[in-house]
Amino acid sequence: MSSQPKPQILFTRQEVKATVDRLAAEIREDYQGKHPLLIGVLKGSFVFMADLIRLLDFPLEVEFITLSSYGRGRSTRGELRMVKGLHTEVKGRHILVVEDIVDTGHTISFLLDYLGKKKPASLRLCSLTDKPSRRQIPVAIDYLGFTVPDKFIVGYGIDWDERFRYLPDICFVEVED
Ligand code: IMP
Ligand code: MG
Repeated sequence: MSSQPKPQILFTRQEVKATVDRLAAEIREDYQGKHPLLIGVLKGSFVFMADLIRLLDFPLEVEFITLSSYGRGRSTRGELRMVKGLHTEVKGRHILVVEDIVDTGHTISFLLDYLGKKKPASLRLCSLTDKPSRRQIPVAIDYLGFTVPDKFIVGYGIDWDERFRYLPDICFVEVED
């Protein structure tokens, strides 16, 4: 096997759990009785989504979408497109987008624009992490877990070229740009 960078812990699993508990409490407060549709952005949000919804004690629905951008480098560059779309009507629904990380902001802005055009009753964003130092497009994050430094984040569902998703802590790796 080729050598790979060693992940270093940024936030422990206990800190992650406490933060997901906090986000769930905020979401419970705002969405009780609204039957929201939570839309997870694959693949990075799947672990976060799984933990989050089990802390929400009211009726809701879950969908996942896949977006792709060209290139596999660190930055999101070029055109974004929807690879796996939605099977549920968005019009008139309370939509909560669940994302793993907002970096330059291109991906989530594209998705929020796309969903906004479908006339939801409300549209908000919950992101596990935010890397504001690299932002190119302004993004309002309604429910934010952690602000992270300008490092490459992995673990708790988040990958580096498909590696390290299984790590229970939020970590970072030193990688070349
Ligand atoms: P953006 O379009 O630059 O905001 O990037 C958004 C997407 O790129 C995120 O949803 C992640 O899937 C991926 N991404 C950005 N930064 C990182 C990182 O540090 N680790 C892993 N994936 C990242
Ligand atoms: Mg993502």
